[in-house]
Amino acid sequence: MRVAVLSDIHGNADALLAVLADVRRRSPDAIVNLGDCFSGPLDIQRTHEVLSGAGVTATVRGNHDRALLDPAAMDSWDRMSALEVTAEMRDWLATLPATAVLDELFLCHATPLNDTGYWIDAYTDDGIARRAELAVIEAKAAGVAQKVMLCGHTHVARMLNLPDGRLIVNPGSIGSPGYVDDPPRGTRRVFSGSPAASYATLDRIGGRWSAALHLVPYDTGPAIALARAKCADDWVEALATGWL
Ligand SMILES: [Fe+2]
Repeated sequence: MRVAVLSDIHGNADALLAVLADVRRRSPDAIVNLGDCFSGPLDIQRTHEVLSGAGVTATVRGNHDRALLDPAAMDSWDRMSALEVTAEMRDWLATLPATAVLDELFLCHATPLNDTGYWIDAYTDDGIARRAELAVIEAKAAGVAQKVMLCGHTHVARMLNLPDGRLIVNPGSIGSPGYVDDPPRGTRRVFSGSPAASYATLDRIGGRWSAALHLVPYDTGPAIALARAKCADDWVEALATGWL
């Protein structure tokens, strides 16, 4: 069995199209999406069109998907998108579950218990993602029975095995390779180090799961122009270089 894992598209239709073309070449049995589909300064309606036709088997709700339905929860990224959310998009977002199970896979946006925390990564004030302490990672995985656990949210790809063999994979972000956190978390900068769209594939061979991370280059010029038009300076920088 082969599964493609998408996450954190954030309205970047061109990045999504490039990833889907790469996904098709690998002929997966299923595609899953870990949420944060739209929020940001880019083209959320086109992203919705592309995503609707992508044949995704399961999608979980990201913190930004939740915020688009709740004005009290919106941050600057959600406010840039809110006026472009159609009734159809709103109805679809309202159907998304916080977590899902597909075969031997557990899907969540950030951690099994919430959509904004960190699971396999820890961040310090320099914004650099580091692997979290094993005890912290295991504690958050305690209630999950599946062999493979999938999370996004950080926009930085990472995968690891727990000592019991279970696999945890964060595929990174398709559409947003870096960001500056909103206050009150201050000026923490998080970035992947590549402008390419990031996703993962999982393969089960002989009962064992393995994962691969993929970086897909695409023409970032149109997305950079959209970000510039909305004065989203951190987006312009991250889309152009992957660094902040
Ligand atoms: Fe995100």
